Amino acid sequence: MTVQVGIIGTGWFSKVHAEILTNMEGVKLQAVCGTSQEKAAALAAEFNIPTSFDNVKDMLDAGKLDAVYILVPPMSHGDMELQLIERGIPFFIEKPIGLDVATPNQILNEIRKKSLITSVGYHFRYTEPIQHMLQQLKDQEIGMITGQWMGSMPQVAWWRDQARSGGQFIEQTTHLVDVLRYCIGEIDEVYAAFASRSMHKQYEGVTVADVGAVTLKFKNGAVANVSNTCILPDGINKVGLTVFTQAGTMDWDMERLEIVEVSGKSEVKKTLDAYKLENEAFIHAVRTGDTSRILSNYEDGLKTQQVTYAALESANSGLPVKL
Ligand SMILES: NC(=O)c1ccc[n+]([C@@H]2O[C@H](COP(=O)([O-])OP(=O)(O)OC[C@H]3O[C@@H](n4cnc5c(N)ncnc54)[C@H](O)[C@@H]3O)[C@@H](O)[C@H]2O)c1
Repeated sequence: MTVQVGIIGTGWFSKVHAEILTNMEGVKLQAVCGTSQEKAAALAAEFNIPTSFDNVKDMLDAGKLDAVYILVPPMSHGDMELQLIERGIPFFIEKPIGLDVATPNQILNEIRKKSLITSVGYHFRYTEPIQHMLQQLKDQEIGMITGQWMGSMPQVAWWRDQARSGGQFIEQTTHLVDVLRYCIGEIDEVYAAFASRSMHKQYEGVTVADVGAVTLKFKNGAVANVSNTCILPDGINKVGLTVFTQAGTMDWDMERLEIVEVSGKSEVKKTLDAYKLENEAFIHAVRTGDTSRILSNYEDGLKTQQVTYAALESANSGLPVKL
């Protein structure tokens, strides 16, 4: 069976997924939809996609799609997911799944009624270092974790606008929170301090905080500090997690995991393309109904969103938020 796929969104990440899907056997990119016909037609031309649209309804009315990729910024979620669910079309959705938790909760309710196949783009779960960390931590008493997503401000206009992106912790640092939920366990309390230090003085229209420190309490008793900033110059960044256990430390930095124990050091490098793996897992599920290779579905993605949104609520109120 050839899986007929539609794409919503025509930005940078649509190109990343379109490239992977174009090269996947048994997949046909059939339609693309953007905020304008011009942008949709440009992506269609680049990837040899036969049809292009300026709204989701027209794309779905035009012909049968077996699956749709939702690759749009946080503020655009809601109506498009509901249209797909109504028509029973499985979807892959990039993180974060929304600006808040109200719309995602409504979407999850509808997904449940149809038992629809979904996948969320938390791609780090698919990498060897994270899989290794997950297995190693099963036998260990976890003490605490420190983490950081320190980098520069992405230059797309919506990212700097709190009302459109949700801010760095929801938009970007969500990846770290998701890895923590996957490897350490569920989080039940969040306390955050955010501040605006310099980006709003440097650029027009910056309403997102540019530094933040978040404390997370896990149900199993472990605690974590996860910090983020977007004030660094382009090209300078520090992203990763360190887990502290009685056995020693585990340092993860997106490319590799380094384990330091009394007996010595060991390392697990990332060699596989996680974006390709998450796409293959989703397409396999659509083709066969077997969802076992999907490592984060919508319901799971919503649990990560609940934590990142709680951090924003806590930063706004100055109080810890219980989940
Ligand atoms: N998993 C990852 O590693 C990763 C990496 C990059 C981006 N992302 C995520 O992918 C999403 C998109 O990011 P991007 O870098 O492509 O952004 P972008 O700004 O380059 O592109 C966003 C696109 O969405 C389109 N769009 C917005 N609202 C729409 C609507 N209602 N209907 C149709 N199209 C709409 C815009 O026209 C634009 O083309 C974001 O949520 C981002 O966080 C994930």
